[in-house]
Amino acid sequence: MSKGHDWKKLATESQVVAAGRPEKKPDGALNPAIALNSTFHEGGPIGYGRYGNEAWSALEEAISVLEGGKTLIFSSGMAAISSVFSLLPQGAIIVAAENGYQGTTTMLKKMHEAKKLEVRFVNLPNTDEVLKALPGAQMLYLESPTNPAIEVVDLPVVIAAGKKAGSIVVVDSTLATPMVQNPLALGADIALHSVTKYLSGHSDILLGCVVTNDESIFERVEQARRYGGAIPGPFEAWIALRGLRTFALRMQRSQENAMELAKRLEKDPRVLKVRYPGLASDPYHERAKSFMKGFGAMISFEVKADIAQIDKMCNSSTLITNATSLGGVESIWERRRRWATESHTIPENLIRFSVGIEAVDDLWSDIQSCFLAAKIN
Ligand SMILES: Cc1ncc(COP(=O)(O)O)c(C=O)c1O
Repeated sequence: MSKGHDWKKLATESQVVAAGRPEKKPDGALNPAIALNSTFHEGGPIGYGRYGNEAWSALEEAISVLEGGKTLIFSSGMAAISSVFSLLPQGAIIVAAENGYQGTTTMLKKMHEAKKLEVRFVNLPNTDEVLKALPGAQMLYLESPTNPAIEVVDLPVVIAAGKKAGSIVVVDSTLATPMVQNPLALGADIALHSVTKYLSGHSDILLGCVVTNDESIFERVEQARRYGGAIPGPFEAWIALRGLRTFALRMQRSQENAMELAKRLEKDPRVLKVRYPGLASDPYHERAKSFMKGFGAMISFEVKADIAQIDKMCNSSTLITNATSLGGVESIWERRRRWATESHTIPENLIRFSVGIEAVDDLWSDIQSCFLAAKIN
């Protein structure tokens, strides 16, 4: 794939444009092919469509450059997460978030009930709680910032403690993205992402990835994909790489918008609390500054109103979409507790807001008219 680059010398903005390109040759293509094949002529390194193809390799190369490890892509973020849990033997102890992404906590609760894993659910931002839970754990499964509480885990400290305790340390870095933190550089064994979100960035496909520098973990996760079969199509991989080309620009803009809107929301008397680590008043601000390269573009805020009014507020927006998911060019918000599986530690009045790349004043006007429409004074 892309030759002649010293990736470490290039900034993220350049890496996302240059990585995952076919080899240069006269009249050669700038982009990988979307080759639709379930199988290949015998004798080559791939062999079958469930084992690899050109579009996957191109996307994997690009994410590898961004995260500083070797990447395997999956059909969704949850498929990537499942492959990581499959590294553990029956009944293994895993330390994980009690209020992280609800898809992950729901899966872990089910595995715990079925005695497939013994899950020690902890409040991840509480470092002491994590450290106390570690003895005997085969995996420490982290997520930071957490979704949807937007709390920052002290990654350098808990990763080091997890390694010392002999656990495989995993970080779901979906909300942060490689622009904001690189879990492998912080000592984790595995970084993973829902590529559905910021990396692809257009709310048009689902994909996930696992990134590691550990050869044995890489091989075992590759086997889990090969035989578990949670593979993406070549088209989805191609679309994700196309989206990744503008990832740095999109993330920069979304972060700027998020910072500005967090400041405005914080001053608004109709808002009880804003959760955004970029705010000096946020309890995680200093921690975030100590190891993160930015603050991300996810805000959660609690509104002084009843549930019906907050639902009306979310439904009244014209520019912001009332939907689940995050990380696209378009701003999306939702009241998180509308989902039965959302943790009860998340307040009923919390709106999770994935800030997009629109003009910030247009977003602010939309928010103002939503307050009015819902009669929140
Ligand atoms: C932090 C986090 N991890 C993982 C996932 C799962 O990703 P996917 O929806 O691509 O399966 C999500 C989805 O919202 C998420 O927010």
